[in-house]
Amino acid sequence: MRAVASTPAIPRHVAIIMDGNGRWAKKRMQPRLFGHRAGAESLRAVLRACRDHGVEFLTVYAFSTENWVRPEDEVSGLMSLLKTFLKKDEHELHENQVRLRVTGRIRDLPEAVRTELERVMAATRAYTQGQLILALSYGGRAEIADAVQAIAWEVKEGGLLPDAVDEATIAQRLYLPDVPDPDFMIRTSGECRLSNFLLWELSYAEFYFTDTLWPDFREKEFAKALEEYARRQRRYGAPS
Ligand code: FPP
Repeated sequence: MRAVASTPAIPRHVAIIMDGNGRWAKKRMQPRLFGHRAGAESLRAVLRACRDHGVEFLTVYAFSTENWVRPEDEVSGLMSLLKTFLKKDEHELHENQVRLRVTGRIRDLPEAVRTELERVMAATRAYTQGQLILALSYGGRAEIADAVQAIAWEVKEGGLLPDAVDEATIAQRLYLPDVPDPDFMIRTSGECRLSNFLLWELSYAEFYFTDTLWPDFREKEFAKALEEYARRQRRYGAPS
């Protein structure tokens, strides 16, 4: 009998596309930022749920490279929401020994946000009980392009031979090479697309789509998603 990769009941790394804040606000005849604020509450709830369920890594798509074209007030509102989140929730990261990290082109962010992010990342750097990874000014294609550019320079400078470039060479030059690939990807709000999120890293992840809008996605919805994950059988290309 052939061995089939067995799936541990709990994913080690969960990645989430937090979608539907705007529609949630619209339903309530409120501005989009109202939805993003409620979305930040869902992030708090899901982060706590990760701790309770034993999920080690949580990556959330908080701002994509494409989001820069949103109206100016929405972009600045999201940036100040991020600063508030960092201020309000830093103590919880310390209490639970959770390390904060960013994936994406952090240099694109406004200086005040960058400074605050760098401060909290440095303050939580040594923690080993979990990682919260914010994808900010993140694009999957941009990440791969940045890795390819780094490789091209190494080849040009003679440190790497073209024939030696393989999958590991690329994986090691992504933004967070030490983080294991996500096991489980959740997207809320009924959209069934990847939208340029972790294109390389999600190659073998299980996908879960729900109609629930992100501001309504809290502990119960997360537990339901994890139950579904536990029923999946991951095969990594092996026959069943
Ligand atoms: C997509 O919903 C969501 C975003 C572009 C932003 C996600 C941000 C948060 C949840 C805020 C909290 C994050 C931090 C890090 C504090 P959408 O606006 O595209 O929704 P729509 O498709 O209904 O318009």
